[in-house]
Amino acid sequence: MSSYMRGFINEYIELQQATILEIGAHDKPTFVKEEAKIFFADVQPKEVLLTDAEKWTDQRNVKSIVDLDYLIESNDYSKYITDKFDAIIADNVFEHVSNPIKWLESMTALLNDDGYLFLGVPEFNKKFPISDRFRTLTTFSHLLTDYIRNVPDLDPEHSVEAGIYYDMTTISLPNVASEKINLERSLHDYRNPHFGVHCHTFSCDTFVNRIMKPILMLGVVDFKLLKCLPSENKYVFLVVLQKGKEEVSLTFEEFAGDIGEADPA
Ligand SMILES: C[S@@+](CC[C@H](N)C(=O)[O-])C[C@H]1O[C@@H](n2cnc3c(N)ncnc32)[C@H](O)[C@@H]1O
Ligand SMILES: [Zn+2]
Repeated sequence: MSSYMRGFINEYIELQQATILEIGAHDKPTFVKEEAKIFFADVQPKEVLLTDAEKWTDQRNVKSIVDLDYLIESNDYSKYITDKFDAIIADNVFEHVSNPIKWLESMTALLNDDGYLFLGVPEFNKKFPISDRFRTLTTFSHLLTDYIRNVPDLDPEHSVEAGIYYDMTTISLPNVASEKINLERSLHDYRNPHFGVHCHTFSCDTFVNRIMKPILMLGVVDFKLLKCLPSENKYVFLVVLQKGKEEVSLTFEEFAGDIGEADPA
């Protein structure tokens, strides 16, 4: 079970009273059925998670993979889940979502009024042991373009980026330029996008002003941003959002960074 989330969530909700949805719990559910009214959803059926865990021997505990209450087949969750929840947990999931603004819209639709969304997001600046260290931080404009393009859940472009920049040493293989910068390889990734890809990269330092506040300013997602802070283990940062409208305060310098005066010459 994932411990950093548990203590944190207890600060906001009465565990015995709340109905909770956990998305992408995989083998690390934040709470088990015996201790909370918790339901599990994933985009991949349990059989696929089991086969992948065995194939990649990726240190996942096959015995702990949860049974799913909902199998979701697109970011439009309302087609697959008609119930509503007091809280949603998604730990190490947000970075896999190809269209995060649309996904956040789906999350608001699944929450009761004042319901909470708890995210655990890999910290990009903690470059080890994550596989993204050769990438750059995702920008707000990129996420907005994903939304405008209405990219599908399994998106070819994200798959190509992740394939080229993925740090192979994460899986004990060398990074060989001719294998990485290789049309055949990228064509393969383009044609075979999968849910294991990190579509985007984020850092706690820039998440509030450069990602989440700008998203909320668009006015399509009704959340209040309550907290964004590093977790105990520092490899993941935690974000708490609460359903509801809020006026966002953000200057352009806070958003884009203060780069000083332009050179008149
Ligand atoms: C890296 S695992 C996280 C497992 C566990 N929560 C943890 O922290 O170790 C990502 C999980 O999210 C699921 N997932 C991937 N893309 C998703 C998406 N677009 N929407 C919902 N779940 C997704 C995967 O199937 C997988 O179960
Ligand atoms: Zn994207």
